[in-house]
Amino acid sequence: MKLAFIGGGAMGEAILACVLNKGLALPTEITVSDVSQSILKRLKDQHSIATTSDNKAACEGASIVILAIKPQNLSSVLAEIKGILIEPQLVLSIIAGATLSTLTHGLGHNCVVRVMPNIAAKVGEAVSLWTATPQVTSQQKEAARSLLATLGTEIYTPEEKYLDMSTAVNGSGPAYVFLFIESLIDAAVHIGLPREIASGIVLQTILGSAKLAKESGLHPAELKNQVTSPGGTTAEALLRLEEGGFRALLTKAVQAAYDKSRGLGQTK
Ligand SMILES: NC(=O)c1ccc[n+]([C@@H]2O[C@H](COP(=O)([O-])OP(=O)(O)OC[C@H]3O[C@@H](n4cnc5c(N)ncnc54)[C@H](OP(=O)(O)O)[C@@H]3O)[C@@H](O)[C@H]2O)c1
Repeated sequence: MKLAFIGGGAMGEAILACVLNKGLALPTEITVSDVSQSILKRLKDQHSIATTSDNKAACEGASIVILAIKPQNLSSVLAEIKGILIEPQLVLSIIAGATLSTLTHGLGHNCVVRVMPNIAAKVGEAVSLWTATPQVTSQQKEAARSLLATLGTEIYTPEEKYLDMSTAVNGSGPAYVFLFIESLIDAAVHIGLPREIASGIVLQTILGSAKLAKESGLHPAELKNQVTSPGGTTAEALLRLEEGGFRALLTKAVQAAYDKSRGLGQTK
């Protein structure tokens, strides 16, 4: 499968590494275009893929063109490559807030997939919600699905409106979890645990809890009740979290990210 990446930053590299690791494409079938020469050199050295700083040249002959630039660089990239893509070339965009309408009009090309993955692609554990324009054929959808499956879990939705919500939940979500991890480690250090021990037990607590929630299929409240003895230590801590507005604060944070994602789409 011939792939072109426009943008070889954190996400572009994570995706190309997954694709290579899972054998979906050979290094000789991948071209990355980026404005940063140091990024291109590193990607070429590390993955033996082809590189260029010419976005148009990268798109030539690619089955899938992956747009992995920041939202603020989208309009200039669209202006640069508008009108050069031909069917059955497929564009796959991971750009927060960039709507299918913005992408199809900006590209002058109708076969577009919009995806919201996350940074856990770096370890093959991303979850990606994706949608496609009506012109994307079932064959192209299968190609998109197999590419996204290399990153972790992929979920298709015919409803584009869910993509901005997904941006606020699984796109930004790892940052919320990293903040929680950092805070819990700091709290453990505050009560006297050595940082190394604190870090080890916090990370495994998060991993183990997520695994239990996923594998048991139980409601999180039921699992929380299993940890909370009447009059016990967990109940004391949960009271402080509720008093501090933990749930409401998280809801407001996710709402703010969602509003921002929709706002990005409207400014295009
Ligand atoms: N990071 C995440 O966790 C995450 C998760 C889900 C979705 N996304 C989406 O993924 C996209 C990429 O994010 P990222 O974190 O990978 O960003 P990033 O690390 O900044 O990568 C973007 C790359 O594109 C390059 N670039 C800028 N202008 C360009 C141009 N005109 N042509 C070609 N390359 C250009 C940048 O170079 P310079 O740095 O020199 O400008 C940079 O190397 C964003 O739109 C974001 O919304 C990110």
